[in-house]
Amino acid sequence: MDAATQTVLLTANQIAGGVSRLAAEIRRDYAEDAPLHLVAVLTGGWIFLADLARALALPVTIDFVDASSYGANQHSSGIIRLRHALRLPVQNRDVLLVEDIVDTGATLAWLLNHVRAGRPRSLRTVALLDKPSRRAVDTPLDYVGFTIPDRFVVGYGLDHDEQFRHLPYVAALDVRPRSAGGQTPGDGQPS
Ligand code: PRP
Repeated sequence: MDAATQTVLLTANQIAGGVSRLAAEIRRDYAEDAPLHLVAVLTGGWIFLADLARALALPVTIDFVDASSYGANQHSSGIIRLRHALRLPVQNRDVLLVEDIVDTGATLAWLLNHVRAGRPRSLRTVALLDKPSRRAVDTPLDYVGFTIPDRFVVGYGLDHDEQFRHLPYVAALDVRPRSAGGQTPGDGQPS
């Protein structure tokens, strides 16, 4: 078992403000005549999707895709695995991909190609958190909630080894193995 120290980066109130701002930006760009098709990336995107969908005040349809680039450690493997495919067709829909965080950009770039192959009418991306200093794959982001530094973050859907997803805030996590006594590097995004 590791010792972990949390430093709050975004409070629940700050996140709520960011979600409201994003919802207003998105609402301005879409007409209400056809539902906006929200595709959330599991697992981390579940809380953001729930809050964004309710803040949008637009007709929406909702689907999930589960893609992962991380194992049980703090670094992206760079290899994307599709763990759960889309349930609904995207053809002729206005699709908005909903990500909790964009780090290297590999997951979102892969998902954009994946969704585009289904021939949506339009395709845009929203990320609550953006870590541009870690970008390895050029990935278009249409809407960004918060730009954050290169810290290992958890909470509001994001985990470290499947823990901390339930936290109502976003915190940087410094993990120190009890046995080693030293601190592991705090970079990279947890799975
Ligand atoms: C996280 C996050 C993004 C992705 C971003 O998911 O939810 O989907 O990593 O990283 P990238 O920009 O370097 O590709 P993760 O693979 O940890 O899966 P999880 O959401 O199930 O924890």
